[in-house]
Amino acid sequence: MRKPLIAANWKMNMLRWEAEELARSFLEKVPDLTEYTDVVLIPPYTVLDVVKGVIDGTNVKLGAQNVFWEEKGAFTGEISPGMLKDSGCEWVIVGHSERRHVLGETDDMVKKKARAALDYGLNVIVCVGETLEERESGKHIKIITGQVEIALSDLELETPHSLVIAYEPVWAIGTGKHATPDEANDVQGTIREITGNIFGDKATDVRIIYGGSVTPDNIKELIGESHIDGALVGGAGLKAESLAEIVKLSGE
Ligand code: 13P
Repeated sequence: MRKPLIAANWKMNMLRWEAEELARSFLEKVPDLTEYTDVVLIPPYTVLDVVKGVIDGTNVKLGAQNVFWEEKGAFTGEISPGMLKDSGCEWVIVGHSERRHVLGETDDMVKKKARAALDYGLNVIVCVGETLEERESGKHIKIITGQVEIALSDLELETPHSLVIAYEPVWAIGTGKHATPDEANDVQGTIREITGNIFGDKATDVRIIYGGSVTPDNIKELIGESHIDGALVGGAGLKAESLAEIVKLSGE
């Protein structure tokens, strides 16, 4: 049985005082939450320490939004997996569509990041997803298959529950238009098949989650009517009330 995962990607938001207030207020609203759901807060690097200070001693985990694949050296502006662990992170996102589309991250880079992070003992959320144009032209399954196959190639999967694939259709991110349970199911099925081909029995424990305009109003429909194992939440994760509501509803 895979435990649901709700991860809140705060993207490039939250000054220090805002991060502290949000994390505190969220915790107050869901005091004993992680019996039934894994919860990860993923703030910008600059406030990792602030959020860590608030969630220390609780079941809520800390994550980062990106990582570089080298351990250390002359890579100005990059952050290594070891640095993330040193900052208290147990999770990291790789291959978010904003990094792919705004910053030109390639499938090959995503693969290197996923591998380095897993090798370092971080839990990894690998993001994949198609653009509107790719979906409308019927290419989405092919695109997602390519993204997943490249990202997971050469991975040694010692602990399958450390790997999460997030299906985040680009057209659903920040648009208020979420995938239907059928659409999410369809892609989830493809990803499940690919992970099965690559990892065999171990793939059963790999979680496949959905992201893109997830809110308290649609989380039950999405989780209840599909086989997805949780959500990667953007905008709704920037408010304590909505994030708490999503977490509670995901466990019902
Ligand atoms: P929204 O929930 O704001 O659509 O963002 C989703 C996302 O990109 C999470 O990583």
